[in-house]
This record gives sequence, C-alpha cells and structure tokens, in this order.
Amino acid sequence: MTAALLRAQSAWFACLDPLLPSAVEPPAGEVVQPDGSPAVGVLVRTLLEPGTPQTLWSAMDVTELHPIMGDTDDLDPLLRAARPTLRDAADSSFVVIWPSRDIRAARALLAHGLVPLSVLAARTAHAGPVAEVPGLSIRRAGTADLPALTESAMAELTYSHQVGGAFLRPNAPAIKRAALSTHLLQGDPVWIAERDGRVVGHAEGWHTDSVPGSWAETRVRHGRWGYVNCLSVRADARGTGVGRALMDVVHAELLGEPSVGAFLYYNPPNPVSPAFWSRQGYRPLWTVWEIRPASALR
Ligand SMILES: CC(C)(COP(=O)(O)OP(=O)(O)OC[C@H]1O[C@@H](n2cnc3c(N)ncnc32)[C@H](O)[C@@H]1OP(=O)(O)O)[C@@H](O)C(=O)NCCC(=O)NCCS
Repeated sequence: MTAALLRAQSAWFACLDPLLPSAVEPPAGEVVQPDGSPAVGVLVRTLLEPGTPQTLWSAMDVTELHPIMGDTDDLDPLLRAARPTLRDAADSSFVVIWPSRDIRAARALLAHGLVPLSVLAARTAHAGPVAEVPGLSIRRAGTADLPALTESAMAELTYSHQVGGAFLRPNAPAIKRAALSTHLLQGDPVWIAERDGRVVGHAEGWHTDSVPGSWAETRVRHGRWGYVNCLSVRADARGTGVGRALMDVVHAELLGEPSVGAFLYYNPPNPVSPAFWSRQGYRPLWTVWEIRPASALR
C-alpha cells in the first residue's frame, strides 16, 4: 500500500520538478490515515539535545508530518488528522517539508496556519570565473580565526533570527564556536574575506553525497553535491560585492565534476537573501512549512 503510494508520489514529483529525488519511506513514527482518504501521514517527533547546532535553527520539540500522498492533491485531511496528536509545549514546532513547486499544497498549509519559513534552494550551473574585487582578499580560515569567525557567524544568526526560523539562544556563541572549530579540525572549507586587514565576512560549505539511505537522498537526487552552510557579511560591508566574491570562491571549490550541483537553505522573509541567492543561480526545491508552537496548528 505504502509502496504503491510512494511510487505514485515519485512519479508526481518527477512531473513537478526534474531536480526532486524519488520519494523515500519516511522514518518510523505515528501513522495517521484520515477516513476516506488514500493518503497516509507519518508523524515523527524529535526532541533536540540542548547545546547542539540544530537548536539554532529549530524548536527543541519538533513534530514533522511526512505526507505519503501518492498522486492525490489535498493535504487538508492529513493536517486535520495530525492536529489532535500535537502536544502543548512552548518551544515546539510542527513542520511539513514539501516540494516548492507543488502549489496545490500551499492553500491547505496556509489555511492551517503554517508559514513558509525556509526553503532548500539548489543550483546546477557550473562555477563561473572568480572575479577580483579591489581591496578584498579571500583565504581559507584556520583555528586562529575562530574569534572572528564566531563573530561573523553570530552576525548572520542575529540577522536571520529576526527574519526567519533561527533561534538566538543564550549559548549560541559557544555553539557556533564549537561547530566552526569542528569543521576546521576535520578540514571542511571555511573561507574568510578581509578588507584592509579587517574581517568583513565568511562562508562555510562542504561536499555531501546523496546515496541510498543518506539524509541527503531525501532532498536531492543521487550524486555528490556542494552544501553551503553559512554566508555572512558584516553589516557595514553589505552591498559592496563581498558576498558575491565569497560565493565565487565557494563555487569554484564545491561545483564542477563530479558535483551535480549545490544547495543551501534560506528564509523567504529575509529581505536580502532570496534576491541574493537567486542572483547566485539558486532556486527553491523544497519549502519548509512551519508553525510554532506545534499546538497552534489550526
Ligand atoms: C545576503 C548577504 C550575504 C549578501 O552579501 P553582500 O555582500 O551584501 O552582497 P553583494 O554586495 O555581494 O551583492 C551581490 C548581489 O546582490 C545585490 N545586492 C546586495 N545587497 C542588495 C540590496 N540591499 N539591494 C539590492 N540588491 C542588493 C548586489 O547588487 C549584487 O547583485 P549583482 O550580482 O547583480 O551585482 C549579506 O547581505 C548578509 O550577510 N546578510 C545578512 C545575513 C544573511 O542574510 N545571510 C544569508 C543567510 S541565507
């Protein structure tokens, strides 16, 4: 039954958007099946560990609905069925991640109070040339740069928290510093941009393989992808070409054979990042619909 629905869902996804991967079996969770609907939903609850990087972009108590819709088009019955299962917890969210181009789903999601807080956006174009920006130098960061990188990462978080899904938790600087330190120690690329000897921005990213059973195969087609984790430009240096120059360097490393492309997350309510990422060749693939707290679902 589920296998047939997943096959039909994959066929529908392939019609919608050539970059979508095939639908895969959701993780174990509470199954909901509304009366009279062929669709099935799996509700997966995750309680985050305090102090982990995820707590900076997610509520502590997340319930994600994984719809298995086949080729049916109405999410409303599944959302109604999910509603009574949600607990009343302050730091909680209810999340549905669905193909951005499936506009049939948007009406039901909006009607139940969910908002499109993030998108996963992808680009498959090859890297272009790395343009020189006079007075700006970009280099790989090292552990000596940790204080400046942490400050730059916090500037991005502080901005994103106002216009999207990020959480400015009291221990955020320590979490950012620890995550950056781990990336540097394991050799993941982190780039730093300097003007007149002063740090004006940074970028982080790495390769990820979408292979059977991996997290990435639920989001992008099989193959090697670049993942851009963070781009931040100091407030007083924005709009002067720093972000573009950093991404030229990031793309030169993350795109090209054997990479299929690159992907990242941004917040549609952010007034600067959607236009910036569109100019960089990224377009929405998945939309993360969310409501906080979870019990606010209508
Ligand atoms: C988004 C961000 C990284 C962009 O970096 P930036 O250095 O300001 O951008 P650039 O100066 O390199 O501009 C790149 C392009 O965006 C355009 N742009 C930048 N700021 C703009 C603005 N305020 N209005 C209109 N266009 C703008 C530039 O004209 C340029 O277009 P082009 O490629 O056609 O020439 C930066 O604004 C930032 O750090 N914002 C806060 C944190 C954030 O939102 N990070 C991204 C999270 S996903």
